[in-house]
This record gives sequence, C-alpha cells and structure tokens, in this order.
Amino acid sequence: MSTINTFTGMPIPLASEITHTRHFFQALDNFTRTMAIRNGDRVLVLADPLLDNRVIDAVMGHAKARGASVRVYMEPSSRVTAIPDTVKPLLQDATFVVSTWFCSIIDPFCIDLRRKGQRWVKITYFRNLDLLHTEQARFPIELVGEITRATAKRYPAGVDFDLHFTDERGSDFRISFTPQMRENMLSTNRWRGKMTAEEPGCYVHYLASHGPNLWDHNAVKNDLSVPTKMRGVLYPQWAVGFAEPFKEKIGVFFEGEYVSKVTGESTEAAILRDMLVGGRMIEGGGCGFNPKAPRHTIYPAGSNAPGALHFGIDLAKPADYIRRTMPDWEEPPIHVDLVTLDATVTAGDAKLIDKGFLCALRDAEVVAAAECYGDPIELLEAQVY
Ligand SMILES: [Fe+2]
Repeated sequence: MSTINTFTGMPIPLASEITHTRHFFQALDNFTRTMAIRNGDRVLVLADPLLDNRVIDAVMGHAKARGASVRVYMEPSSRVTAIPDTVKPLLQDATFVVSTWFCSIIDPFCIDLRRKGQRWVKITYFRNLDLLHTEQARFPIELVGEITRATAKRYPAGVDFDLHFTDERGSDFRISFTPQMRENMLSTNRWRGKMTAEEPGCYVHYLASHGPNLWDHNAVKNDLSVPTKMRGVLYPQWAVGFAEPFKEKIGVFFEGEYVSKVTGESTEAAILRDMLVGGRMIEGGGCGFNPKAPRHTIYPAGSNAPGALHFGIDLAKPADYIRRTMPDWEEPPIHVDLVTLDATVTAGDAKLIDKGFLCALRDAEVVAAAECYGDPIELLEAQVY
C-alpha cells in the first residue's frame, strides 16, 4: 500500500532564469521614464549613508546617458527634518532632485523650488537596487496613473462633502472638503496620474507605489496654518514599528486635526497613547495604488497595496519607543504611520474603497488600459502578500 504524502494542485514556480531578464528590462523601462532627466539637467541626489550606493550609481549612469550632470550630497541620515542652510545653494542650483530625505515633501524651501519648476523624485521605496527585481517595480506606471485618475474622478465636484472612513472595528472618521480643497489637491501631478518626473514642479515616488494621499495639506496649498475640519475615531489594525498587527481594538480619537485620546489596555495601546496624544494628522490617509505592492509589508511607511491606508501623524515630541525599536528608520521619531487594511472610504456618496478593496480597480477604463499589458484580472487583482 502506498501513501500519498505530497500534493501539487498549484503551478510549480518557473525557474527564475526563464523570466529574469524579461522582468528586469520591464522594470528598467519604468526606472528610466520615471527618472525623466533631460539633456542639461543639473541633478542633485540628497542621500544618506544607508542608501545602497548602486542606486546612486544607477541615477548617475542614467543621467550620463541623457547628458546631465550629477552632484551627490549626504547627510548623516535620511531623517532630515529641514533643509540645512549649507545645502540650500546646492539645492537652488539643481533642476532635478532625487531624495531620500524625510523633509522633501513638506519643507517650505523645497515647496518653493518646485513652484519655480524643480522636478523631484522621492526614493524612500528604492533604497536598494535589488528592488528592481520586484513585481511592483515592473508594474506598468501608466496603469498606476490610470487607477489614480479613476479614484480622483470619484471625488464630488462643486459641492462640500466629507471623506468618511469606516471599518468593522468601529472607525468613524471624517475630513470635510470644500470644492476649493478638492481642486487644490486633485490638481497635483500624482492625482492627475502623472507618474514620471517630466512636469515642471512635479513630485513623484519611485518605486511608484506610494500613491497620493486621500487627504493632505495639498488641499490647502501646503499652508500648515490653515486648519482642516476633521473629527472622529480610528481603530488602526497596525502601525509602523510594531512587529505584528494589534490584537486589541485601540481607539485613536481626534479633535480637529489633533489626537485627543487613545483608548485600550494593552502594552501597544499604552505606547501609542504616550506617542500620539497631541499629534497632528498629516496624511489622511496615504493610499496605495500599485497592485503589486505587498499588502502586509507596512515598513517603512505603508502598506502601499491598493486600498490599504496609512494615517501619518506628526508627534508632539520625539518618541523614545521609535528611537529604541527603529534607530535606523528612514523617518524621524516624530512621525507615526497608523495602518488599516480593511477600510471603507466614501467621498460624499461615492465609494472609493470597499473593505480594503480600491473600487477603481474594476472601472471600465482601468480594465481597458490594463488589457494592453496582459490579463487585467492578474494585473489588477492578483495581490502580493
Ligand atoms: Fe505616507
């Protein structure tokens, strides 16, 4: 009598040699088009010591091919919270910036240079050249743009509306939009689905995984002194800096943009309470738009899977917990990303996300665009975990 002790009901993985080169060149095309360096550009790389040197070499080689010059400036870490005065002349002289630095998005000096046309690529998600071999690196950037545009279309035009976040744990959080806020936010290059650093004043992510935020201060033209009406409670499932999702239901309550109270009895709740009370909502919420971004990888600042959300909170004071657990984190210990993977989000009457599923993935124009690249179901709905 024989005993069957192995079963093979699913495809046997192909030998990597069969697909490796094809996949690599597919990813390289995204790289060269996103890094839209032009003849005569003066490129500045804002680096840190833990950035893979091969990433800088890749940018330099690409710039050389395009007839552009490159300077590299390194700070002791990527956790730079404001552009140092010594760097300002260098930055002012550049036409194209590739940066790992935390302050890239929010520093007024950077915002002003982008207003004058400087193009930026943030490489928080490209700190290691080997990432070129991931599925998210070769996912067509046009489709990321199409998915983003299809989501933007859902925001109601010409009326006041609430962005409303709910989930089965009881989250109930609202951010109030005016027509002007909608227009300000959706006019930014990423909300228009422009994934390459071609446009004057652009700010793009490479890898193209961190999409535009469902709300951020772009809605008030980055004037942090303008308050935004928001209220309610979030019950995050997880946060960056915690090894695994929370077992307890931890409530993070807001009064306006600021955290007023954190409920819960667990060790994690106590840590969050200590960190978050008094903190300010900065990204509400960061949403993934690349279907091949791993859903359950939330480090360093995600998850970036479509429909997964992170809520970036700037803290009232640096958190010792983060300094102990993530001394080399790419972000300074004054920022925490809370994560929900199962949110339902509406903008007025329109549904953006249904229980963690980004509704735009099934829009006719997105599916039609995907058909050029392969099977739309595989491309848009086969997730990476
Ligand atoms: Fe983020």
